Amino acid sequence: MIIFKDPHKIRQHLESLQKKGLKIGYVPTMGALHPGHISLVNQCRQTCDVTLCSIFVNPVQFNDSEDFKNYPSTLESDILLLEESGCDLLFLPGETDIYPDSSFRNKHYELGNLEQVLEGKFRPGHFQGVCLVVERLLTILQPDDLFLGQKDFQQCKVISLLLHTMGRPPRLHVCPIVRETDGLAMSSRNLRLNPEERALAPQIFKNLTFLKEHLREGNLTQLQKEAVSRLETLGFKVEYLELCNTENLDPLNRWSPGLHGVILVAAFIGKIRLIDNLLL
Ligand code: PAF
Repeated sequence: MIIFKDPHKIRQHLESLQKKGLKIGYVPTMGALHPGHISLVNQCRQTCDVTLCSIFVNPVQFNDSEDFKNYPSTLESDILLLEESGCDLLFLPGETDIYPDSSFRNKHYELGNLEQVLEGKFRPGHFQGVCLVVERLLTILQPDDLFLGQKDFQQCKVISLLLHTMGRPPRLHVCPIVRETDGLAMSSRNLRLNPEERALAPQIFKNLTFLKEHLREGNLTQLQKEAVSRLETLGFKVEYLELCNTENLDPLNRWSPGLHGVILVAAFIGKIRLIDNLLL
């Protein structure tokens, strides 16, 4: 695996590969890699000639400075994992490479309702920060294909919208959530759970599954309230648990078979905020 820190050098290298007709696939990450990320690398390797990954903890997408400060950093083991998984290129930019001056942080994206609901409601500015960094990374790297995880369902929607505004955007692949054997969705934040919290965490997915299995035609409010209250009784602080339309994330108030829905949840266990979702 070749590691690049300099945006100009990696651009030159990628250009020479693309001139040879090789298809570049890209997996953007913030590090603290786990099997969920590696599944994206594997999907990328199966689809493209060259697999490119980046690690950059983007300060402007954290609306909570404590969360940014505590974000796990495991660079050495990340590099080993990527090497073992057959990643070809790793981009490790510094903050000034991504944001050379304040003008690079000041762009505003029209995301409409997508940034008002769910994550957008509880993490104001988060998706603006995601768009800033993703547009910057894509402008530097210009990959042919882009691989994102379904775990960040709303982020995938936002980035898909961003891609529509860009000239020559990469083809987006949204890859399935990877779970621990007890159902907990893999996340870098799981590293920060203490043993009791870790034991409780799979209840999030259990609840999503319960809800999916008990869906019946008609009003969804009661079912949703019950799911929230089950989690709160166990000690979670639920920020949202909503059934939404998969296309625009508008809330679904009634269920009928054939609808394309997704249940999305964000809940705190102690100080750790976890998210998950399940397609219906
Ligand atoms: O999902 C993530 O890890 C980040 O939001 C991303 C897409 C790498 C942008 O910083």
